[in-house]
Amino acid sequence: MMKIIAFGIREDEQVAVDAWVAKHPGVQVDTTNELLTSETAPMAAGYDVVNILQAGVPVGEATLKPLADLGIHILTLRNVGTDDLDFEMLKKYNFHVSNVPRYSPNAIAEHAMIQMARLFRHMKQMDIKVYRHDLAWAPTIGREVRKQTIGIVGTGNIGRVAIQIAKGFGAKVIAYDKYQNPELAAQGVYVDTLDELLAQADGISLHVPGIPENHYLINPDSIVKMKDHAVIVNAGRGNLVDTDAVIAALDSGKLDGFAMDTYEDEGGLFNVDWAGQDFPDPRVADLITRDNVLVSPHTAFYTWTASEEMVEQSLDAGLAFVNGEIPEQVVKF
Ligand code: NAD
Ligand code: COI
Repeated sequence: MMKIIAFGIREDEQVAVDAWVAKHPGVQVDTTNELLTSETAPMAAGYDVVNILQAGVPVGEATLKPLADLGIHILTLRNVGTDDLDFEMLKKYNFHVSNVPRYSPNAIAEHAMIQMARLFRHMKQMDIKVYRHDLAWAPTIGREVRKQTIGIVGTGNIGRVAIQIAKGFGAKVIAYDKYQNPELAAQGVYVDTLDELLAQADGISLHVPGIPENHYLINPDSIVKMKDHAVIVNAGRGNLVDTDAVIAALDSGKLDGFAMDTYEDEGGLFNVDWAGQDFPDPRVADLITRDNVLVSPHTAFYTWTASEEMVEQSLDAGLAFVNGEIPEQVVKF
């Protein structure tokens, strides 16, 4: 019988695993809530496929060599981003890899646009006031989203849905991508350079990968090019934003708000319950207390629809690899 071990499984994912197993009686899927590390890798002894969702926990030689020594060469990811993986080592140890490049772009896009709208309407300030029993209107007056220009950086799966949602608000939408989508180009959405987008947008939403060339796409120089009182939403990757530069711009009043779903130092911080304890990262503690900063712990993706798709597609991909097929979710490297 074919055997898959899935690491880092949450309760909501277990539901989807059980549903998949019921449809695939010839496959045994065992799960653990532990992440894949060099210490947990030996748990994979006897399995054909290792299925993971790391979210910031690196997978390098120390983890891959023990798997390869156990005869395992199939690694299937339940998420999009492959930034936790060391591809040199995956090559060295002959791994086949898949990810889930498109599970539910709506999950992330709607989170990003909800947060942008909340920033324009100062909803966090209002929620804090109401919680304090202050039900006065002023001074918490907002900007209507339809009167804003929303700039979408990256028009792949997620950015394209974000554009639809922003248009639904009635906002003027502009977009920038290194490779223009012909359908969107025909709608006249694109500006030619990132600088043009930064100069025109009241709200900027990032939907590009955290590849090295995109590191600190938002930095002191790019912030200078932005409109005064712009807001930024980062549900892309933490390393897209120089956090110190954004904090300085919030302090100076250049930026009106910041929504941060991904953070440059989020590994080991997000997806952990810190209740009753200080955050180990004082910068995050500072950001969380600001009434014009929205922090979510990389949960833009976190919906039932996305969770099911991530589990199903990653298990399907593992099955395909074992059957000698190349799944559509294969990661080429
Ligand atoms: P995608 O590959 O479909 O689209 C990415 C787009 O970015 C491409 O069109 C590409 O040409 C463009 N691009 C890359 N670098 C660029 C640059 N410097 N300037 C302009 N355009 C650039 O990816 P997607 O499915 O839309 O996902 C986008 C990103 O969202 C992922 O890479 C991941 O980092 C992030 N993500 C976040 C979450 C979350 O929960 N917060 C969940 C899934 C994905
Ligand atoms: C991805 O799918 O790449 C994400 O960003 C979400 C994931 C880390 C849970």
